[in-house]
Order: sequence, then C-alpha cells, then structure tokens
Amino acid sequence: MNYRVLVSDPLAEEGIDILKEFCDVDVNTGLTEDQLVAIIGDYDALLVRSGTEVTARVIDAGTKLKFIGRAGAGVDNIDTEAATRRGIVVANAPEGNTLAATEHTMAMMLSLARNIPQATASLKKGEWKRSKFMGVELNDKVLGIMGFGRIGREVAKRAQAMQMKCIAYDPFITRERAASLGVEMVPLDELFRRADVITVHTPLIKETRHVINDKTIATMRDGVRMINCARGGIIDEKALADAIASGKVAGAALDVFENEPPTDSPLLNLDRVIVTPHLGASTVEAQKNVAVSVANQCISVLSGGAAKYV
Ligand code: NAD
Ligand code: MLT
Repeated sequence: MNYRVLVSDPLAEEGIDILKEFCDVDVNTGLTEDQLVAIIGDYDALLVRSGTEVTARVIDAGTKLKFIGRAGAGVDNIDTEAATRRGIVVANAPEGNTLAATEHTMAMMLSLARNIPQATASLKKGEWKRSKFMGVELNDKVLGIMGFGRIGREVAKRAQAMQMKCIAYDPFITRERAASLGVEMVPLDELFRRADVITVHTPLIKETRHVINDKTIATMRDGVRMINCARGGIIDEKALADAIASGKVAGAALDVFENEPPTDSPLLNLDRVIVTPHLGASTVEAQKNVAVSVANQCISVLSGGAAKYV
C-alpha cells in the first residue's frame, strides 16, 4: 500500500529523503486551518514543527490519519487529546534539538549581560557609546533554572563552567539527581528570591502558564534578568514589560512569545529586551536530528510498529 504523508512545516531534506523511500510525500507549508482541513483527509500521516496548529478540527477531518509527528520537543501546537480519542499516534523528537536550544540560551544570557545586540545596533548607526553599554559579569551570579529537564540540565553544565552558582526548581526531579550535577534543588519561591538570572525550561502547561507574573516578579531580586527560550506564555509579557519599565527587572532575553510572531507585544518597544524569532532549535544539526527522528518514527508506525517518543 502506498502511504501518503503531508509535511506542513519546513523539514530538513534528510527526513524527507527517508520518508520518500517508503511513502509519497507532499511538502505543503503555510496552510491555514481551513486549507489543512480541506486536504488532510487524503493523508495517513502529518509531520509538523511549531508553525502548524493541529487542532481538533484538523484531526477530525484526517479520517485516514494514523500518525502525527512533531519535529521538535513541544507538542503544545497539537491537540493530543483529540488525536488520542481518534487512536492517532502523536510522537515528537525531544532529544534532537536539546543542544541547539541550550546553546541559544547561553548566547542569550551572555548577550543580555553584555548588551551585545543593542551595542551592535548602536555602532552600526555610527555611534560609539562605550559607557551606555556597561554590562555585568555572570561569574559568581546565581542562575535559577525553572524546569530541570534535558535543556535545563545542559544549561546548568555550561553555566557552571562560567562559575555561576546554579539552583533549580522541578517537581519531578529529585534533589539527589540535581546534587549529582552540582545543582541545588529549591522550592520555586526560593528560586525567585535568590536568582540573579532566571531561565525557564518547562513545557507550557496549566501549572506553568504565567508562573512569572506581577506577584512573583515582586518577590524577585531587584535587577534580576530573565530568559525564556522555552515557550511563550510561561512569563506574563505585560507583567514583564511593566517590571522592566519600572527597573525592577534589569532586562530579558526572549526567543518565544505568547503570540508568534509577536506583533503587539509590549516587550518589543523596550531597549532592555533582546529577542530572537523562535530560533532555539534553528541549527543545521538540530533540524537534521529532529527530521530524521520523526521520519523514522512515522515509518515505524505506518508499518505497524511503535514510535519511540509518544
Ligand atoms: P524536558 O521535558 O526534558 O524538560 C522539561 C522539564 O520541566 C521536566 O524535567 C519537567 O519535570 C519540568 N516541569 C514540568 N512541570 C514543571 C513545573 N510546573 N515547574 C517546573 N518544572 C516543571 O523538555 P526540554 O527538552 O528540556 O524542553 C524544555 C522546553 O523548551 C519545552 O517547553 C520545549 O518545548 C522548549 N524548547 C524550545 C525550543 C526553542 O526553539 N526555543 C527548542 C527546544 C525546546
Ligand atoms: C521545540 O519545541 O522543539 C521548539 O519549539 C523548536 C521548533 O520546533 O522550532
């Protein structure tokens, strides 16, 4: 039987090549929900990144769908409950972009501490303002890591190499596990109180939505810096913008936003906010890894086998 697979977000060629050995592949990106609903009934599998919203409507229209693959970690753009009701396997590729997201977090933290994007823009405008861009050292600072999973742990290793003291909060990781990596597990309120820099690495779920808000920001150190390379919505953008404007928060580095692209976010107008357009996983290596992983899992499921990361 000839299976048909729809790839609705850009996927690395290496993954497409694997799929083509086994099935017919259509790459059709930038579809609206209505356009997707109109064609999804022809396909046995759908492969996405974060751009496609796989809603219950799309899933219900996918009468032949057996597999939905997410070339990346977060599955918050897929209605997994609707897929489960229909018996469709949903799998992701959580390991392939861990190092890419980790390195992006480190790049954001260093850029934030030393005002590199702002200084670059200023110099390119013809200015030479050395005192305006006075930075801070990360050495000896306390890094609060919220979410001590794959990326959180890799960030800790690299921060420790820069002599930062790492503390973490994660309800599903034991103190012993963290201690074996030289990291102190603390309650979330203590993390907020102690950290000089806070970086979030959790999924966006009910418990983490707006966990950084005006009330929790009020408990933080004056001049705290914040990084979000996980998911928009973990930090309340309005509360963060207010806290930066008041000087309570010294700056923020954001790769992800509550709405993407973030056309109306109040954060985009603030000099002390540095931003990238959801580039955490955007390395050649990571894109190859995740594409190959979902392609192989897709073939496995269509041939009656199992997916590795369900
Ligand atoms: P992971 O599943 O390995 O780690 C997430 C950790 O969060 C887990 O250890 C889990 O126990 C913890 N957690 C769950 N609920 C929590 C809570 N209420 N408070 C604190 N911790 C909690 O995931 P990961 O691969 O490390 O990815 C982390 C985040 O980064 C995800 O949101 C993922 O989608 C995102 N991500 C973003 C990019 C990007 O392009 N910016 C790239 C890769 C991953
Ligand atoms: C992820 O969750 O893996 C990331 O958001 C990366 C992406 O798909 O762009």
